[in-house]
Amino acid sequence: MSVYNIYYSPTGGTKKVSDILANAISDNVRNIDLLKKNLSSQHFEKEDICIISAPAFGGRVPVDNIEKIKTFTSDGAKAVLVAAFGNRAIDDTLIELYDVVVSVGFTVVACIEAVAEHSLVRKFGAGRPNAEDKTELETFAKKIIEKINNNDLTVPNFPGNRPYKDFKASAMSLVVDDSCINCKKCARECPVDAIPMENVKTVDMAKCFSCMHCVSACPKKARHNSPTVTNALEERLRERCADVKPNKLYI
Ligand SMILES: Cc1cc2nc3c(=O)[nH]c(=O)nc-3n(C[C@H](O)[C@H](O)[C@H](O)COP(=O)(O)O)c2cc1C
Repeated sequence: MSVYNIYYSPTGGTKKVSDILANAISDNVRNIDLLKKNLSSQHFEKEDICIISAPAFGGRVPVDNIEKIKTFTSDGAKAVLVAAFGNRAIDDTLIELYDVVVSVGFTVVACIEAVAEHSLVRKFGAGRPNAEDKTELETFAKKIIEKINNNDLTVPNFPGNRPYKDFKASAMSLVVDDSCINCKKCARECPVDAIPMENVKTVDMAKCFSCMHCVSACPKKARHNSPTVTNALEERLRERCADVKPNKLYI
């Protein structure tokens, strides 16, 4: 039996939650970073336990994340699903993640909505997951182990609708300042190749889905969202994001 920590985490918030859970389940975890390009397909055995974590983007799972999961196969490995969100709502993220993992053969034993910093407006969900979240997730991990040990395979009752809500991309606008040293890390790591190697100061907006990985990966902090667009988004989200949201645990 192996325990896998499988995450799609452009700016690291989803990974923080996933790490807490995976490390609470086992001290010998195998990491699979779904942001990486050219991942080889992988098979998971029935006895394996997989934490599979995705961020909520417009209340959905990012398309690239879905495509990577579709390369997996399994014959009933136990999956614990995490939807990390920026203190607004997950909408249909968990149900979409559930549908794709079940379609490739996983058995879902628990689901989690977990608050993380909003990667477009970082003041929403700032500092999450915090120490309290960690304790809560670690306690939940014990329940998950108990459920698996009891061979209880009941499907958790979690929220979401089919058909899923329409995905509306947040039209962000990236600014690259003069501290850019043209190291091309952003272009190499962009999961959808939206940054051309020959001119890293431009972005192909037909491919970019505003995941913010290039912003968080830049070693010189040279990439930013346009302040005007960020301020407008903050204004639009303020009412729905300002209060402290709980995590939600389904087993
Ligand atoms: C394009 C985009 C769309 C997002 N949509 C939502 C959303 O619908 N609901 C929400 O609460 N947070 C939303 N967020 C915030 C992310 O879900 C949250 O910051 C998550 O932790 C990001 O994961 P990461 O840090 O692993 O990249 C969105 C972020 C981005 C970049």
